[in-house]
Amino acid sequence: MKFKKKMVVAHRGASGYAHENTLLAFQKAIDLKADCIETDIRRTKDGFIVLYHDAAINGKYLTDITFGELQEEARKKDFQVATLEEGLAYVKGKILIDIEFKEDGYVEEAVAIIQKHLRNDEFFIRSFLDEVLIQVKEIDPNIITALLLGKSNPKNPIRTRLSEIFPGRRLRRTKADFVSPHYRLLKFFFVTRMNFGKYSVSVWTVNDEEIIKKVIFRHKVDNIVSDYPDRVMKYLHK
Ligand code: G3P
Ligand code: CA
Repeated sequence: MKFKKKMVVAHRGASGYAHENTLLAFQKAIDLKADCIETDIRRTKDGFIVLYHDAAINGKYLTDITFGELQEEARKKDFQVATLEEGLAYVKGKILIDIEFKEDGYVEEAVAIIQKHLRNDEFFIRSFLDEVLIQVKEIDPNIITALLLGKSNPKNPIRTRLSEIFPGRRLRRTKADFVSPHYRLLKFFFVTRMNFGKYSVSVWTVNDEEIIKKVIFRHKVDNIVSDYPDRVMKYLHK
């Protein structure tokens, strides 16, 4: 279960087949024999760190509602939110987990919870937020981290996109171990440039089979995040 360069990562669990970021989607990823599960974390008003992607549910911000209220809102949409602790306990011994920190503000607390359940070779951490990755490495330089690129609606689009197509400075500053661009950022020999700098590339989120083939065979990426891990496994042979 150790971190490998070549991986099929089930995005928010196998979220093409079950509700994203739930234990059901995690189980589907395990059944499909994905190498890793990607999941997102946020925190509720009463301090529960939960597996949830969006900032809000049914128009209510997680930072304004309790964990109980979050579950009530989730029930209306027919799913159940898991806490980070529940997610970690569920995957332990079964599959590698890739935890995306959606926010800054409780990095130390989240890392402590993760390390209470998992060894460093059982997880890694991704974020679009450079400051989060810097804090993770300060807490423990042996935790494997990835810098996510392809932020949606950045405040300064030109500057952000340039820093994503040419992320060298950000990679050095965050001390990230690998780089994780949106597939549309694979421009100007991105993979070749990154590999030359000794960075592996993990591309998100590729669901379309034609794009999966292009990413694997033209761009030579062998670490792919997908809602449908089985589609990637058809082409990424190990
Ligand atoms: O793994 C990267 C991907 O999860 C980032 O985007 O919005 O799906 O969390 P998003
Ligand atoms: Ca994510």
